Amino acid sequence: MKDKIVALEREIIKETIKTSDEQEKFRIRYLGSKNIIKELFLEIKNVPNEEKKEVGMLLNNLKQIAKKKHDSFVPEARSKDKKQTLDKSRPAEEYKLGSRHPLSLIRSQIIEVFSRIGFVVSDGPEIEDDWHNFSALNFPPEHPARDMQDTFFIKNSNKDMSLRTHTSSVQVRVMENESPPIRTISPGRVYRNEAISPRAHCFFHQVEGLYIDENVSFADLKQTILYFAREMFGEKTKIRLRPSYFPFTEPSAEVDIYWGLKTESDYRITKGTGWLEILGCGMVDPNVLENSKIDSKKYSGYAFGMGIERIAMLKYGVKDLRLFFENDVRFLDQFTSGI
Ligand code: PHE
Repeated sequence: MKDKIVALEREIIKETIKTSDEQEKFRIRYLGSKNIIKELFLEIKNVPNEEKKEVGMLLNNLKQIAKKKHDSFVPEARSKDKKQTLDKSRPAEEYKLGSRHPLSLIRSQIIEVFSRIGFVVSDGPEIEDDWHNFSALNFPPEHPARDMQDTFFIKNSNKDMSLRTHTSSVQVRVMENESPPIRTISPGRVYRNEAISPRAHCFFHQVEGLYIDENVSFADLKQTILYFAREMFGEKTKIRLRPSYFPFTEPSAEVDIYWGLKTESDYRITKGTGWLEILGCGMVDPNVLENSKIDSKKYSGYAFGMGIERIAMLKYGVKDLRLFFENDVRFLDQFTSGI
C-alpha cells in the first residue's frame, strides 16, 4: 500500500499542467468524484490496524499535494498578472434594462388607439407665434389665456412669440397645409405659466385631435370619444359630456368618465361625484376653418384635447404629477414596458 502511495506521489509530481484542458484531466484523475486517491482510501480497510493511521496520513498528504498542484495552474486570463488586468473570461457585467417613461407609454397607447380609426400623427414647433397659438384659433384679443399668467411669452423677439400653450397650434398648421378630409392627432409638450403643485406644472403633455370632412357631426365626436375611453379604461367605461367653452369650438364640451365611488380615494379624486374629467372637445368653430382657408359651408369638424399626465395618473394611480418629471428611478423602475 505504502509503495502504491509513493508511486502515485511521484506520478503526481511528474504531471505537467500547462493548459486548462490538462488541468481538467488532472482534476478528474486525482480530485474528481472517482479519483484514484479515493480508491486508495477505500483500501485502508485491508491495511493492518497498526498501519492504518500512518497510511491515512500519507493519503491525506497525497491529496493535499494533488490539490496544490492543481491550484498552482491559473489560466492566463485569470491571473492577476500586472500586464494582464483585463479578464476576458469573466462574465459580462449585467446590463440593467431601462424602462420606457410612463408618459411615453401612455402617449404611444393613445396614438395607437386613434391610429386604428385613421388618425395620423402631426408635429409642430414648441415656440409658436401668436397666430398659430391664439389668433387663428379664434381667441379674441382680450382673452385671458393670452394673459401673462398663462402664457410664457418670449421677449426680444420681433414677432409675438410664446411657448405653445396647447398643441391646437399644430392643427392650425395642418389645416393651412392640407385640405380636407383631415384626421390628425398632435401629441407634444405644452407650457403654461402655472404654479407647480401635485396637480399642475408649468409644462405638461397633450394629445389633441382634429377631424374635418363633409357632414361631420357632434354624434361622430361623441362616438369617437366613447371609443377612446373604452379602449383606454375598459369596455364598460361610461362617459358624460358637460357643456363648456373654448374659443375655437362651438358647441364645446368637457368629457368625464365614470370612475366609481368604491373607496375613500375614489371619493377624493372625483371630489365625491364619481366622475373624472379627461378631456375637452367640441365642433370646430367655422371661424377657425375660414382662418385656415377651409370652406366652412362645405366642411365641418370636431376637435378634442387631453393631457397625457392626467390619463397616466388615472391609469397608474399616480397621485402627484411632479413624479413624472423628477426622474427618480425608484418611480420609473415600476413601469416596465416589456420591450
Ligand atoms: N386646446 C384645449 C386645451 O388646451 C383642449 C381642446 C382641444 C378643447 C380641442 C376643445 C377642443 O385645453
